[in-house]
Amino acid sequence: MYKIALFRGDGIGPEVAEQAVKVIRKVGEISHVVFDLSEALLGGASIDEYERPVTPEALALARNSDAVLIGAVGGPQWDNLETSMRPESGLLELRRSLETYANLRPVHVFPSLENHSTLKEEVIRGLDFLIVRELTGGIYFGTPRGIQKLTEGVERGVNTEVYTTPQIERIAHRAFSFARKRRRKVTSVDKANILESSQLWRKVVTRVHRQYQDVTLDYRYVDDCAMQLVRNPKQFDVIVTTNLFGDILSDESAMLTGSIGMLPSASLGDRHAIYEPVHGSAPDITGKDMANPIAAILSVAMMMEYSFHLLDVAKSIEDAVSRTLAEGYRTADIDGGGAKRVSCSVMGDLIQSRIGL
Ligand code: IPM
Ligand code: MN
Repeated sequence: MYKIALFRGDGIGPEVAEQAVKVIRKVGEISHVVFDLSEALLGGASIDEYERPVTPEALALARNSDAVLIGAVGGPQWDNLETSMRPESGLLELRRSLETYANLRPVHVFPSLENHSTLKEEVIRGLDFLIVRELTGGIYFGTPRGIQKLTEGVERGVNTEVYTTPQIERIAHRAFSFARKRRRKVTSVDKANILESSQLWRKVVTRVHRQYQDVTLDYRYVDDCAMQLVRNPKQFDVIVTTNLFGDILSDESAMLTGSIGMLPSASLGDRHAIYEPVHGSAPDITGKDMANPIAAILSVAMMMEYSFHLLDVAKSIEDAVSRTLAEGYRTADIDGGGAKRVSCSVMGDLIQSRIGL
């Protein structure tokens, strides 16, 4: 039996999480593995109920589970609160408290969506790379931080990009290990021409690489990488980078696949794991049953693989997604004008019913 903590969150979070739950129930039925789901509030939902974006009880639930699944957090109604009270802080607190430092964002183009990207088909056909984003350090967590008043009408906003040797070592080990299961190429992305924290990053990644001589390592500055991602994304196998750079590059990469609604993620630590779609809470389409649940469903596939080592189950979920897309079913974000436009919940039903081991 596996214990899963579920945080549906805000906006379209509950809508896509519900489709992920359908998939978990289905794989439970056919694989005879028991998945025990417990729920708690996160983000705006938690603020409304408890006046804080995550409670100690919710953190404890997550810590005592075998895996955590999140829908999405955030929304305009909570945007004017101070940083520590915003929905996003709940998510960051959860990541920090579980020390899920390695965020995997696989960028994979399904054959039936090859003509859907805004880029030319030949640029993205067969695209498949992995972003390994450091998730519990860097400027997201560095101190000093804050806004200070200097003089009347003049304030100073400060954040700090900071990385220590152990933080870089552990993410580098993860990146090289994943590369060994892929095409054995790691690109480390930094801004070492300007930032000392990046110079240390590069030095430590280079040192860790000595233990992985069967993997090739190259480096790119983040601005160059952003350009290469739209110029020739197929050159990449594994990209390892900092928290902030990974956040930005993964949204850019998501669009290569046709829609940010397609990208799942796994955040792995040494003891815990969090699974969540890369997309946000999409307030503009909330409550309309039109979100794309595929990122959330593929996040469940990642959970089956990385937390439970149920590789066949993971594969059966991915195959079901692939088949549903190949049959022409599309949510609004990936709709090319075909006749098979479906809602979020119908997409969830279609995928769920195509899962068979
Ligand atoms: C992501 C999101 C989060 C991040 C936000 C919601 C805090 O954009 O997971 O990419 O910046 O990490
Ligand atoms: Mn992001």
